[in-house]
Order: sequence, then structure tokens, then C-alpha cells
Amino acid sequence: MNPSSDLVTTLARAGQQHLLAFWNRLDEPAQRSFALQLEAVDWPLVEQMRRLGAGDGHGRTPSVDLAAAITPSCLRLGDASNRIPPADAIRRGSEALGAGQIGAILVAGGQGTRLGCHGPKGLCSIGPVSKANLFEVLLGRLVAVRRRYGRDVPLAIMTSSATDAQTRSFLADHACCGLDPDRVFVFRQHDLPALDAATGNLLLDGPGHLAVAPDGHGGMLVALAEAGGLDWFGSQGVEHVVSFQVDNPLAMPLATEFLGYHLLSGADFSTQVVCKQEPGERVGVVVDCDGRHCVVEYSDLPAQTAAERLPDGRLRFYAGSIAVHAFTKMFLDRVASRHDSLPLHRAFKAVPFLDADGNRVVPTSPNAHKFERFIFDLMPLAKRVCVVEIEASDGFAPLKNPTGAASDTAAHVHAALVAHARRLLAKAGINVAEGVDVELAANRIIDETDIKGLLKSGTWLDRPIVVGG
Ligand code: UD1
Repeated sequence: MNPSSDLVTTLARAGQQHLLAFWNRLDEPAQRSFALQLEAVDWPLVEQMRRLGAGDGHGRTPSVDLAAAITPSCLRLGDASNRIPPADAIRRGSEALGAGQIGAILVAGGQGTRLGCHGPKGLCSIGPVSKANLFEVLLGRLVAVRRRYGRDVPLAIMTSSATDAQTRSFLADHACCGLDPDRVFVFRQHDLPALDAATGNLLLDGPGHLAVAPDGHGGMLVALAEAGGLDWFGSQGVEHVVSFQVDNPLAMPLATEFLGYHLLSGADFSTQVVCKQEPGERVGVVVDCDGRHCVVEYSDLPAQTAAERLPDGRLRFYAGSIAVHAFTKMFLDRVASRHDSLPLHRAFKAVPFLDADGNRVVPTSPNAHKFERFIFDLMPLAKRVCVVEIEASDGFAPLKNPTGAASDTAAHVHAALVAHARRLLAKAGINVAEGVDVELAANRIIDETDIKGLLKSGTWLDRPIVVGG
């Protein structure tokens, strides 16, 4: 079949006729699916991406005046000197969970390939003893919350084109890791085309397929709204939504004290930070620029600025973002209804493509621009932001790098999970022999209170065990 005349005209107008160069090599089903992919391209957006790629200043990656920026004041978890007493926050957070007012979004579009795990990152094994995967640990924590507060936390899981099918079948095969399937909403983020950096043209990664990449976790906003997820939250009485990333098995987005600070401070956007210790740590930093909060991504923070220190020795920009946020649902509704809520960010990457003769080229250095939106760019749109500093040892152990790297590998995450378990066990009066790995069953144990219900104080653990498992 021939491509439709509308499609041919659209491509000609956009100067992208080269995309049809191998049309005749495709069989009819492949032609149909390629036509669908091309027809779905948002050409005005591509034009914006081309301008951003060309760096002429239109649709630029947003920039912040770092000279004027400061680290915002933070509430600290458990700090009696906070303007909101921790006990009040815990009470308020518990009430909201008990009233079923809290929902959650798990951002899980990433793949585990770089970590040696095929398929969605959520399927990477992480339990130091149980070998449970990231999904099992993170969804398990919501089961533990339901057990304690008697109400489900409706969960929306964002997948990408690369992770959607496997995530859905994992959830179906594993009974949603113990969550009520009616309280789990899976939605898929969109892809955006990659652009050849030299010409601004779209690239083919096969004769009948554009080179595309997921549109960043900021894609959650539009994708969730389009899929009906915001209404789904609303229909279940959700008034506040937390979001967290699949790569952090220690994440505690539902910590009652954090929720309480969010609620009692009247913030429409709250966020957890850890004290960034070294300039090279790959975390974005929360800054306050003229009263507006935003996150400056680590790749956008000049090395010299990242290394500046305060008189007390802390980094000048020490509020490391761990991508655990809380929003009012009203705020999400408001920003989702605007097309321009989240700016595009550009990244220069090596993207495989078909050359003019149809040969597949796998470049060894960057050749193309990919574009993403980041959810934390919603921060400047919030009327009030609440920043809560937590101890990294309590809530941040990201799995980012393959075995052998200097940080954020599975071994680092195991060590962090075991150390966290040992601390909670010690609080419950449980002794663990030196060098023995212990793990807390994510779906049973939130804190030492749950441990006390399972083990007698004075118990001695001398072999690897999943407590509560
Ligand atoms: C991210 C944050 C950084 C933060 C750090 C904390 C960005 C741009 N940066 O860095 O500020 O300090 O985490 O760990 O987010 N994801 C999707 N779809 C996408 C892209 C990512 O679902 O299109 C998910 C991934 O599955 C992953 C998470 O978002 O769980 C973070 O993405 P990643 O690219 O690994 O971000 P980092 O560079 O580690």
C-alpha cells in the first residue's frame, strides 16, 4: 500500500520525507503500524524540540540564577525544634492514611538493562535475604500500611513502552504483590522522537520505526490524566498523592511524619531531601530562588558551584532531592490541565539509527538529542512548597549502577537495607550476630512497633532471616 496523501503532505511540510525511504521494504502490517506511529507525532512539539536542539533559545531548558539561589529552610524528620512538632505531624499523617485520603504514584518506566536485569527495573532482585524484587518490596510497603491503618493506598504505576507488558504480566502473575488489584492503576508514559543533532531531523531505528525514547518521568502528568488516573484517584476519595521512584527500595513516601508536615504546612507540593555530602553525588538539589523553589538537576549544576560550602562545612546546595514528593490532588488537577506545565530538557546521547542506505549505525559517541520532562519542574508552580529533610539511612538507597561501580550498586543497596533492618531490630530489643544479613518483610514491618508484635525483646538472631517473612 502507499502512505496516505495526508501523511506524505505532513512529512513534506515538516521536511521529514526521508522517513519514508524504506517504506517499500515493509510488508503491509509493518506499513500500517509505521503509519500509525508517524500519524501520532506531535509536529508542533517536534518543532519546539528542534529549536531546543538547535539551542537558539526558544523552548530552552529552564535555567536558574544560581548566584541568587539559596538552600531553602527544611523541616527535619524527628526534630523537636521544627515549627510543626513531629508528634502533631505523625498524628495528622496517620489520620489521613486512616481516612483513605492518600494515593501514590510509582514511577517505573525505566529498564534494568544497565544493571544486568532484563526487562523493567522493578523486576531487579533487591531483597538481601529474600531476593524479592523492587516491585515486591515497594508494593509490599503499601500492604503494610493497609495492615496498620486499615485503608488501601490506591497506587498508580507508570510504565513505559519498554516496560508496560512485562510489568502488567508480573502484577497479574503475582496478585499485585498483595494489593487489591482494583486499587492498582497501571498507565503508560509516552515516547518522544530522538532528533539527529546535526540536522534536527527525526531518526529511523528500523525501516519502519522511528527512534524514540520515553518522555521522562514528568510524562506522568499528562499520561496519568489522559488515562483517567486523576479521576480514578478522585473517585476513591484521594486528596493527596505521593510519588516515588522504582529504584529506591528504602523510599518512605508514606511516612506519617512526612505526610503530616505536608498536610499541616498547607503545601501543595512537598518533597523529601537528604543532606548531600559530596559535590559529585548524582542527586538534584532543591534550591530557593527569590522565593520560588525548584530542583536543579546534577547535570545542570556547574562543578564549581556544586563544591561551594557554607561556613558550617555543609555544601551550599545540600538539599539533595530523592524524588519522593507529595502533592495535593487539586494541584495535580490544575497543572495537568495546562499544556505548558513542564518544560522539555535536552540530553545529548548515542542513538542507533538507519543511515541513508538503510544500514543500521550504532554510534559510539553522542549523535542525537533526546527530550524529557521532569516531574520536579512542577515545584515552581506550587503556591507553597514544604521541604522535609530525612536521614539517607532511613529512606534513600537507590539502585542505579551495575556491580563494581563505586556507588549505588546492588551491594550498596543490600548493605543499606541490612543496616536499616538492624537499627529497627535494635530499637525493638532484638540482637543480631555480627555479619549476619537480616531483612524486614516489607509487607509486614513499617517500624519497630511491628517487630515487637513478632519477636520477643532479647531474641538473638544468628543466621540470615527475613523477619516477618
Ligand atoms: C533522578 C533525579 C535526580 C534525583 C535522583 C534520586 C531526574 C532527572 N533526576 O536521577 O534529581 O536526585 O533521581 O535518585 O529524575 N523514569 C521513568 N521514565 C522516564 C525516565 C525515568 O519512569 O522516562 C524513572 C526510572 O524508572 C527511575 C527514575 O525515573 O526510577 C529516575 O530516573 P533516572 O534517569 O534513573 O534518574 P537519575 O539520573 O538517577
